[in-house]
Amino acid sequence: MSASPTPPLRALLRRMPKAELHLHIEGSLEPELIFRLAARNGVELPYADVQALRAAYAFTDLQSFLDLYYAGASVLLKEEDFFDMAWAYFERAAADNVVHAEIFFDPQTHTARGVPLAAVIHGLAHACRRAHAEFGIGSALILCFLRHLTEDEALATLEEALPHRQHFIGVGLDSSERGHPPEKFARVFARARELGLHCVAHAGEEGPAAYIETALDLLQVERIDHGVRCTESPALVQRLAQQRVPLTVCPLSNVKLCVYPDLAAHPLPTLLDAGLCVTVNSDDPAYFGGYVVDNFLALFEAHPHLGLAQARQLALNSFEASFASDARKARWRRELEAVIERLAT
Ligand code: ADE
Ligand code: ZN
Repeated sequence: MSASPTPPLRALLRRMPKAELHLHIEGSLEPELIFRLAARNGVELPYADVQALRAAYAFTDLQSFLDLYYAGASVLLKEEDFFDMAWAYFERAAADNVVHAEIFFDPQTHTARGVPLAAVIHGLAHACRRAHAEFGIGSALILCFLRHLTEDEALATLEEALPHRQHFIGVGLDSSERGHPPEKFARVFARARELGLHCVAHAGEEGPAAYIETALDLLQVERIDHGVRCTESPALVQRLAQQRVPLTVCPLSNVKLCVYPDLAAHPLPTLLDAGLCVTVNSDDPAYFGGYVVDNFLALFEAHPHLGLAQARQLALNSFEASFASDARKARWRRELEAVIERLAT
């Protein structure tokens, strides 16, 4: 069963303040911008035009997506390219009433092509500053290690990033999950913790529930990205609920990458009901058919029993799960209640 959310509920999903906590900035690169940057930088693409590229966005699993995602990122060469990409995201985020974004970036995808890490970080940080000045959106960068590469390469990347320490708040772990368990990165996460960085990791997207446990126990992460396969272990679901471990869930991504056949089969509503701190996010919005409000709308359409109470809880969860200060969280909660009240009258 599916039904469009009522107009007041749609308005709430759009207008309520929300934090986005699982967004790969390279996954916000729309085909139009890919072609514009390719022309600007003289990069040749193996697609005739925007339509041909978009037509290739038919994924069968995570790896089939990652192959295209890394190809798309090949047009990013200069500091202004990273600025333009992030600025385009912030314009969409402002329209979705995102008040705070914790943004992943993949330095190794760029440094492997000879792009200086300073160009990556300065371009992104410039967009973050301008988003705060123009839209009032707070943001922070999270440096992700590519898990298909070695831990020594991750350690080298972390050391190389240290001169830019003031520009990122934490580290994450992404890319091909199967066959690359969290324990492969125990030393680099220990080093990140020693440096006072926040730690998060993708786990339980395509990989088993056991990866969620090892990410928590061995990497000591504060949040799990995706985590949906926790449903395979009732004991783990209970632990996640009891400890309020946030799961940054990405509904449209999970359907596009064939983790679930459709949104009706998505477990987010069940996990929310079970008391887990689940949040709604867009992952790679340019590739998966929508930004964060699109994810909310599609999820609520596929699960018609979701209403105002769940919308409110999901916004509250996004604040709770963020690494922002308690004062900012308290302000967003007041803004949320004001929006709910305004829409009710
Ligand atoms: N990198 C970008 N998107 C990703 C995802 N959904 N899973 C793992 N790595 C990613
Ligand atoms: Zn992701």
